[in-house]
Amino acid sequence: MKKLFIALFIFVIISTVIYAGGNSEDATPTQTSEFINYSSWAKVNAETITGDVTGVLGAAHERSKGFREIYVNEIGLPVESGEEDYPFPEGTIIVKESFKNDKGSKGALSNLTVMVKRESGYSPDYGDWEYIITKPDGAIAQQGTLSVCIKCHARGEDKDYTFINSSM
Ligand code: HEC
Repeated sequence: MKKLFIALFIFVIISTVIYAGGNSEDATPTQTSEFINYSSWAKVNAETITGDVTGVLGAAHERSKGFREIYVNEIGLPVESGEEDYPFPEGTIIVKESFKNDKGSKGALSNLTVMVKRESGYSPDYGDWEYIITKPDGAIAQQGTLSVCIKCHARGEDKDYTFINSSM
């Protein structure tokens, strides 16, 4: 009986190790503190984005009626500004604010959507991006290789799964 317990114990430990190491979605998720000072970063869009500028927006990001602002950290800035070619380097963080439309002008912030360029192999078929959506106060609501984000952002494959850059 004792041997059986020991065998079971070892099995559990080994399975835990294999599970933790084998699934890229379990890689340490990004913390709110890594992007919450985004408003001091470089702004990507010169003017507030509204309408459907890409033709693929659909119901995402407060729809065409909402208002959007995009910020990028220092690591991603050279690619975002066109100084360097795609893909973005590891450590790039792009934060997008989506605001409601309040009688034709910018209303309340509904969420932040964030893209974080993770280590090679994190999401190899889709550019190794971690996707994050926050609550209105900036606290993380969901994160990881979120399929709803990936499906649409796949259409921006030629720009490393993004749509907007500073030259637009
Ligand atoms: C149906 C399409 C669609 C879905 C779903 C979608 N996005 Fe986007 N996203 C866009 C478009 C289009 C833009 C370009 C800016 C604009 O028009 O507002 C964009 C822009 C962004 C940007 C700024 C960088 C860029 O691509 O220009 C981030 C960050 C972002 N999205 C994150 C997310 C996250 C996180 C999710 C999932 C929670 C998500 N998106 C889901 C269409 C989508």
